[in-house]
Order: sequence, then C-alpha cells, then structure tokens
Amino acid sequence: MNLNTFYLLLGIWTALALALVPVQLRIAAPYGRHTKSSWGPMLNNRLGWILMEIVSPMALLYWMLSGNPAASPSLYVLAGLWVLHYLNRSIIFPLRLRTPGKRIPLAIVLSAVFFNSVNGFFNGYWWGRFAGPYPDDWLSDPRFIAGALLFLAGVYINHRSDALLIALRRPGETGYRIPQGWLFRWISCPNHFGEIMEWFGFALMAWNLPALSFAVWTAANLLPRAVAHHRWYRAHFPDYPPERKAVIPGVF
Ligand SMILES: NC(=O)c1ccc[n+]([C@@H]2O[C@H](COP(=O)([O-])OP(=O)(O)OC[C@H]3O[C@@H](n4cnc5c(N)ncnc54)[C@H](OP(=O)(O)O)[C@@H]3O)[C@@H](O)[C@H]2O)c1
Repeated sequence: MNLNTFYLLLGIWTALALALVPVQLRIAAPYGRHTKSSWGPMLNNRLGWILMEIVSPMALLYWMLSGNPAASPSLYVLAGLWVLHYLNRSIIFPLRLRTPGKRIPLAIVLSAVFFNSVNGFFNGYWWGRFAGPYPDDWLSDPRFIAGALLFLAGVYINHRSDALLIALRRPGETGYRIPQGWLFRWISCPNHFGEIMEWFGFALMAWNLPALSFAVWTAANLLPRAVAHHRWYRAHFPDYPPERKAVIPGVF
C-alpha cells in the first residue's frame, strides 16, 4: 500500500468515528450497566474483556514487526507504553473486576476485536512502513515531554478511578453505588476522562496521524459513554449530586 492510500483509508476510518458519535449518543453500547440481552449471544464478562483487548497489542506488534521499523529508543518507549497499557486492560483489569455472573454481548466483543484490529493495523503499519526514524533527540523534544506528562496523568486518573469504582462493590455484589470524593466530586466518569487524556498525550508523544486517529476514536467512544453513564446515574439515584458533570469538569 502506498502512503496516499494509507492516508485515505485512515481519513475514512477517522471520519467513521465522528459519524458514529450521534448514534452512540442515542444508543449506549450495551455492556456494563447498559447491557441488553436482546443483543444476541453473551459470554462471561471477564473473558470478553480479555479476548477483545488482547487483540490490540498483538495487531500493533504484528503489523509493526512484519514491516521494517526504524529502531530507536523513542519507538521502543512508545510501543512499550502501548503494550503495557493493554497488558493492564486485557489481563490485570479483567481479573480485578467485581462482576460475578455478569455477561457481555458477543456482538460487543466482536466489534471491539474489529476496532482493536484496525487501530493496531494503522498504528503498527505506520511504524513498520512509513514512519522513518524518530530524531535522536525526540525523547527530549517538548512535544514528547508534554505528551508524556499528559499520558502519565491520564494513566493515573484512569487507573485510580477504575480502582475506586471497582472497590464500590464488596466481593459477590453486582449493584451500583454513587461514587464519592476525588474527581467524582466534579464528574461522573473520571476513568473515561483519564483514558481520553492518555491517548491524546500518546498522540502528542508519537506525533503521527494514526496515533491522533486513535485518540479521536477514544474520545468518540468514551464521551458518549460517559454521557450515558451520567444520565443513568441521574435516572437511578434521586439524590445524585446535581452539580456533577458527566466527563469534562465544569463543561458537560
Ligand atoms: N479506549 C477506548 O476506546 C475505551 C473504550 C471502552 C472502555 N475503555 C476503558 O475501559 C475501562 C472500563 O470502561 P467502562 O466503560 O466499562 O467503565 P465503567 O462502566 O465505569 O465500569 C468500570 C468497572 O467499575 C464498575 N462500576 C462502575 N461504576 C460503578 C458504580 N457506580 N458502582 C459499582 N460498580 C461500578 C463496573 O461494573 P459493571 O461492569 O457491572 O457496570 C466495572 O466493573 C475504563 O478504564 C475505560 O476508560 C476504553
């Protein structure tokens, strides 16, 4: 594939993310609290998370290493952060979940497998075929440093928020409580806020369009999901804090 074709496909792929936002604002993806059994066959929730997320680092590494990536410390750091993120998301996070007996629609797992395959393809193919070497001093470039700070702040916010949410249940419970304290004072979904911050930080560090496309997809998935969570909280808890926003503190 030549570079023009690659950019054309990447543009179409990214436009699809934006086109799906109105759909996602109307129909919440049916997993977690929004699960619907009418979406066809279901499988164990934890297994579903493992299967759908492990695809991402595999696709990235396959497409990167099957090309001829220009090896550099910057590339090792970036690819390493991607793999570390997904080792957490596909193994540690699912094992920590307290979702006994809960199931996830196979359709959601397959759609996430598709997303992770395509996203891994674009980013891995870019690094393996088109990127060329990062400059020797890229690790000290202001874009890399600013991106790394954003990425690390996003990781911290995402992890801490997920941990607080998971800890709202005692072992064996499956219900929901109102999360309190820390960033939950301002927004319903700091885990989604942190994840969006993380991948925009990564795009800044990596400084390429496939990474930016991933950040756009993350926001396009998680902003509507956070809005759906926020509405769900308001509908289910009459005493839900009225001043709390969905995902962007002070905004919405
Ligand atoms: N990069 C991307 O495009 C992308 C897409 C999707 C998700 N993610 C990431 O994947 C992670 C999970 O996403 P998610 O949307 O499933 O998060 P979530 O709905 O906030 O749920 C996280 C975990 O906490 C539990 N939980 C949440 N709120 C709770 C409450 N009020 N009371 C008791 N338990 C509660 C959930 O249980 P239940 O499952 O039973 O609701 C689930 O086990 C997040 O870190 C998110 O950023 C990333």
